This record gives sequence, structure tokens and C-alpha cells, in this order.
Amino acid sequence: MPEFVAILDFGSQYTQLIARRVREHHVYCEILKCDTSCEELSRHQLKGIILSGGPSGVYEEEAPRCDPGIFDLNVPVLGICYGMQLGCELLGGKVVAADHREYGATEIEVNTEDPLFNEVSSLTTVWMSHGDRVTEIEEGFETTAKTDNCPHAGIWHRESNFRGIQFHPEVTHTPEGSRILQNFLYPICGCSGDWSLSRFIDEKTAELKETIGAKNVVLGLSGGVDSSVVALLLDRAIGSQLTCIFVDNGVLRKDEREQVRTMFTDNYDFNLRVVDATDLFLERLAGIFDPEEKRKRIGNTFIDVFKDEAAGIDDVEFLAQGTLYPDVIESLSPIGGPSATIKSHHNVGGLPEQLGFKLVEPLRSLFKDEVRLIGKELGLAPELLERQPFPGPGLAVRVLGEVNAENLEVLRNADAIIQEEIEKWEDYPSIWQSFGVLLPVQTVGVMGDQRTYDNVVALRVVESLDGMTADWIYLPQNILGTISSRICNEVHGVNRVVLDISSKPPSTIEWE
Ligand code: XMP
Repeated sequence: MPEFVAILDFGSQYTQLIARRVREHHVYCEILKCDTSCEELSRHQLKGIILSGGPSGVYEEEAPRCDPGIFDLNVPVLGICYGMQLGCELLGGKVVAADHREYGATEIEVNTEDPLFNEVSSLTTVWMSHGDRVTEIEEGFETTAKTDNCPHAGIWHRESNFRGIQFHPEVTHTPEGSRILQNFLYPICGCSGDWSLSRFIDEKTAELKETIGAKNVVLGLSGGVDSSVVALLLDRAIGSQLTCIFVDNGVLRKDEREQVRTMFTDNYDFNLRVVDATDLFLERLAGIFDPEEKRKRIGNTFIDVFKDEAAGIDDVEFLAQGTLYPDVIESLSPIGGPSATIKSHHNVGGLPEQLGFKLVEPLRSLFKDEVRLIGKELGLAPELLERQPFPGPGLAVRVLGEVNAENLEVLRNADAIIQEEIEKWEDYPSIWQSFGVLLPVQTVGVMGDQRTYDNVVALRVVESLDGMTADWIYLPQNILGTISSRICNEVHGVNRVVLDISSKPPSTIEWE
């Protein structure tokens, strides 16, 4: 059992970042509901607890709380922002609403004798984002940091081994934040740093072997990084008991079905079934304009096709899915992740229940960048490892308006030009996604001496760490120019290309 740090989540937008930072220091951690019981916490090899920030004030009626028994578990506790105020209140300190909110980079003076600030500059910059603050400390508390605005920006209650900091060490705007977290994990919690991805691979392989035994497993393989890594892990664990099913839902990119088939058959020896269900999907999408309805229909049709295919395989007891940690956290968070309510992303949700399979989700404790590293370690072919994310509902959410064979053909051809030209870019930065969107508008153009009245394609190129937020990328003018003129000249039915210059938020990456 690896060393374990628990992060109790009070709803901060930064909670996931705390977890990523802790793991970067080779310590395994999980984000748990804020009211997780001490009994549950004690089931792990618990080395420390972090209380996250959150949007509430500790004296609000509905303010989320934790089990006060956490201070008797004999492990160090670190409270960040709201977590500091809650810890302080539970241990008898005082918290009041600040006269004005403090937000942004602030200079702070820290007491470097507290091991939390070991090797941190005594005057350092930190990221503040809070309304309430601790104004008075009672006996038993010491002040370990202060700013002009916040007399107790860091506190320490030695007797309960509790420290609180009013700022966010997990964000990059706190330059010495990583050092502060490392100080908490190593000298204070006494972690040895036993978490590594190769250890994860070995443990997961053994666990999958034991859970699955001699039964068979089916996996919906999309050709994306997540399901490909699940396939590799299962292949290591159970070999030929795994069958991968790739469903062509008719809304894939140009030549994608054959590309995926070739990538897998060239590189691996999996049982792979490729199902062409284009006609059925397009039939069910005919006449549908509403984005959510498109997603729902694609999700349901996927279930029908998958069900039929899986019925033809003997003795299947398990369905494998590439669920990642952010999906798991979204369903835990006291306030719910934003994307959960904006678009119904998890288009295969409900699948195992309806099929009567047991679920295996070997990646459910990992972040996307960790999955890529595991893929690399398992020898995932580079062309698979470096694929951009592609949404389950595919081009259906990039053909705005009705999805039909004709519109799909136009978008596929335009999209292929975009990919070709961007790949030629020598200084190719880290692009999260680059794609075209077919707009449901026609505009007037002129070709030769002829008036045209044709479609518009929007170009979307973004960078992002995890898809939760994103920035648009400004391509060099010559690339933009080539993409535009090639699309207008080579793709029949398009006479105008526009550039999408919106970030997320307030926009989303996909247009639907
Ligand atoms: P949005 O459009 O919400 O997308 O900013 C964020 C990221 O998620 C991808 N995406 C999906 N992925 N099923 C998926 O598996 C979906 O239904 C879905 N919708 C969006 C999107 O491509 C981007 O990377």
C-alpha cells in the first residue's frame, strides 16, 4: 500500500491542482469529499491531510465541514485558504470577513523557522484569493506568515500539528509554492516519495489479473490515448481474454477508421473488431439540430451497436473504460464540475448498467498527463500517444445544424487540410486541438467570374493543459493564408474561412 495523503475538497477551483502538485512530488494522494470519516481515512497508509480552499465562509449556515476527529489522527494537517479558516475555527481561533477581498499576487513575509517555509525566501510572492481571513489568534496558535492586509496569513497550532496558509501554494503564480508543498510532504509528514508510474503499472497489472481471473473483457477502443492505454494495460494483464471493439459511428475524421485499424494491427496483437455502423448513426441523426439531442442519440446508438457486438463474444463479464480522475472528481465535488452541466460529455455513461457487465476502470485515479506518461512507459506507438483529444460525438458537434453525409464530407475535407498544414509548421507549439467547424450559414463569394453562395468553415486551434480552460493560438499568417486558400480552392462547397479567437471560458473548445 503506497503512502497516502488525503485532500479534503471544499469546492475550490484549485483542488485538482493540489493533487497534481502532490503527485509531482512522488506522493500518492486522492481528493476525497470534505466530510470523509476518520475511519475511512485510516484505511490508508495516511501520512497527512490537506484541507482545500473553497468558496464558502466558515460561519455561513451551509458551510462545508470536515470530521473534527482529523486532528486526532496523529498526522500533520495543512489548511489552504478556506481550509485554514476551518481548521482555525475548529481549534478555537477566530475568523472574520475581511473589509475587502484580497485577490492576486501579494508579497508575504514568512517565518523560515517553521519547517513549512524551510529554504523559502523570507519575503516571497504568493497568490491570494480570499474574502474572509483570520484576524485574531488564540493561545496555542503562532503566526508564521503575514502580509500588509492579512496579519495571520500563515498559522501553526503545534499541539494538533495543524498549519494553515491563507494563500495558494498549488498555483504557478506562487513561485515558491512547490517548495512549500514539498516541505509539508517530506520533513513534516515524513513521506518517502514511493509513488511512481512504473509502480502503478505493476500494481495495476497484478490487480487486474486478480479481479478478472479467467473471464473475458470487452473494451470500446476509440483510438484515443485513454482507451489505447487501457488496452495496453489489459493486454499485459490478461492477453487474449481481451476483445477491443472499434465502432465507426459515421462522424469520424477523414480515413480515421482505417488509420486506427492499421495503427493497431501494425503495432499490436489484440483481438480487434471493427464495426461499420455509419448508416445506423446517420439515420438516427437525420433532421436533428439540437446539440444535446445529437449527443444523446450518438450515445444511445453506440450502446445499441456495442451491445450487439459484445453479445457475440463468449463469457464476457467485464467492460473496461478509460475513465480518468477528473471525471471521478467531477461527480464528487460539493459544487460539481462546470463541464458536467454545460455539455453531456460522458456519452458512454450508463453503458455497463445497461449491458449487465462489471466495470473495470484502471485509469480512474490518474490525470491525463500521467496517462500519457504511462502510455510512453508501456511503449504506446508515438502516433497514438500524440493524438489530439477527439470528442465521442465526433464531427456531429462540429457540423453545426443537421449532420448528413454531404455536410460531413465537406467538413472532413476541410479538416484534413487543416491538419496537413499545421503538421508542416516547424515551430509547432503544444497544440491541444486544431480542427474545423462547418457553420450553418452561406455567404456570397466570387470564383472566376461566377457568383457563389457557399458554406463557411471556422478554424479552431487551442492550447490547454486539461481541456478545462483553453487559449486560442495565433498561427503564423502564412499558415493561416495557406489553410484558407486551400480550403476555398479545394473543398467544394466552401467559399469563406474564419478564425475563432475565443478562449475557454467564456467559450468552450467545441462549438456544440
Ligand atoms: P469543451 O467543448 O467542453 O470540451 O470545452 C473540452 C474537451 O472535451 C472534449 N469533448 C468531449 N470528449 N466526449 C468526449 O469524450 C464528449 O462528448 C466531448 N465533448 C467535448 C473536447 O474535444 C475538448 O477536448
